[in-house]
Amino acid sequence: MAENLILSESKNREEIYEFLYPQVESLLKGESDLIANMANLSAILKTAFDFYWVGFYLLKEDQLVLGPFQGPIACTRINFDKGVCGHCYTIGRTVIVPNVDLFPGHIACSSASRSEIVVPVFNKKNKIIAVLDVDSDKLNDFSEVDKDGLEQMLCFLK
Ligand code: SME
Repeated sequence: MAENLILSESKNREEIYEFLYPQVESLLKGESDLIANMANLSAILKTAFDFYWVGFYLLKEDQLVLGPFQGPIACTRINFDKGVCGHCYTIGRTVIVPNVDLFPGHIACSSASRSEIVVPVFNKKNKIIAVLDVDSDKLNDFSEVDKDGLEQMLCFLK
């Protein structure tokens, strides 16, 4: 497949996700390397939505370790009992944080980040292998639309 992304002209986030699905599926299903696919998916989400930061933390032994991402440099290691990422890993479900200042234990990699969504990444055996962290510089920027859209995108990593 040609490595170019066609962007939706819609301003509606649900429509943008819908528009991206077939392109993401086509790009990711042609490649079996997880890191390569995470790298491309980070780039697609950053480009399509202009989020402040998009990236993966991978489960490595007893920590989450920074993987492919797009945006400013970020903290490299997160313990399971720390931050939104650790919380997402621990409960095994998507976490939406409308205001990061109100989330106890939030790890501020950047003071520009105001709201955040973290989505678990499952493998074929339904085991969590990573989390996807998306940060916005706007308050209350994430909803169920992003939860559904991102969860669906991450199925293409299986
Ligand atoms: N805010 C995250 C840490 C990762 S950075 O935002 C890129 C957290 O609280 O887990």
